[in-house]
Amino acid sequence: MSAGQAPPVYLAPMAGVTDRAFREIAREICPAVRVVTEMISAKALLRDNRKTWAMLALGEEAPPRVVQLFGRDAEEMAAAARILMAAGADGIDLNMGCPTAKIVKNGEGAALLRDGPQAVAVARAVARAVPLPVSVKCRLGWNAAEADTAARLAPRWEEAGVAFLTVHGRTREQFYAGRADWAGVAAVRAATALPVVVNGDIASPADARAALEVTGCTGVMIGRAALGNPWLLAAAAAELSDPAGAWPPPEPRERARAALRHLDKLLAYKGEYIGAREMRKHFGWYCKGRRGAAVLRAAALRAETAAELRALIRETYRHL
Ligand SMILES: Cc1cc2nc3c(=O)[nH]c(=O)nc-3n(C[C@H](O)[C@H](O)[C@H](O)COP(=O)(O)O)c2cc1C
Repeated sequence: MSAGQAPPVYLAPMAGVTDRAFREIAREICPAVRVVTEMISAKALLRDNRKTWAMLALGEEAPPRVVQLFGRDAEEMAAAARILMAAGADGIDLNMGCPTAKIVKNGEGAALLRDGPQAVAVARAVARAVPLPVSVKCRLGWNAAEADTAARLAPRWEEAGVAFLTVHGRTREQFYAGRADWAGVAAVRAATALPVVVNGDIASPADARAALEVTGCTGVMIGRAALGNPWLLAAAAAELSDPAGAWPPPEPRERARAALRHLDKLLAYKGEYIGAREMRKHFGWYCKGRRGAAVLRAAALRAETAAELRALIRETYRHL
């Protein structure tokens, strides 16, 4: 099977993590990976919020540029999608899965799953507003009693003009606890002719294969397991295109090179003060599972400048 036909692998949108720097690192390591921005507030876009535009930097990132929007007002979401298209977006993803209190208290994110007509109205309004692929990323439902919500809404989103769905196999009430329920995702897949991407607890190439087998989905989305390990995206893509092929894990030198590039990008896009501080957590993830990781993480937390972090990254990988 050629790479073009292989099931797609997505890097999950993660607020505060999958910024432009991380998305670009992921694409350097796995050119086939599909990426989505962190969630962007439709209201903030309509207010022309400077920080929101800085977060997007739409003109500068390589296409395809898919932006994830959150909001609950159909007209506002449609207006925000039009603005994004004019600014160069190639696709719009609608967030209907965010579980955090500050989002759901406004009826946004996963709260839309409790208001089916509104969840469909938002999708319809955005799909009508822009001639771009519009996707929905959701959870299974609000809680265990409502875990069939995504399956019930799937045919209605399909009819509303949505291009595909991504389903995280948890409910809102679970947040990130317990195991993702891939069988629940399979039920969504069975309820619609739309392509469905399975998400939740895919932490290895074998998991990626198993998630597709269990669900019959068309693609996989990987979030937390790719933190500090963007090579997992390439390994999963390789597994899905040719399970017989071997995908060698990266050498320490390659890991160090990626971490240094990641730091350089954060500095270039966010300046030294913010960039260096944000790199501390990424460095901690790059070190995960290594000998002495806790000591290295503590050292990163003390690092104030890019030069200190750079030296720490070089030193870390020299001894592997
Ligand atoms: C720190 C963090 C931030 C997240 N931010 C978003 C977001 O902005 N939009 C979204 O749709 N999902 C967000 N998610 C959820 C992930 O996209 C994904 O659905 C979830 O982590 C399950 O996948 P995983 O088990 O592979 O991590 C976030 C998750 C984490 C851990």
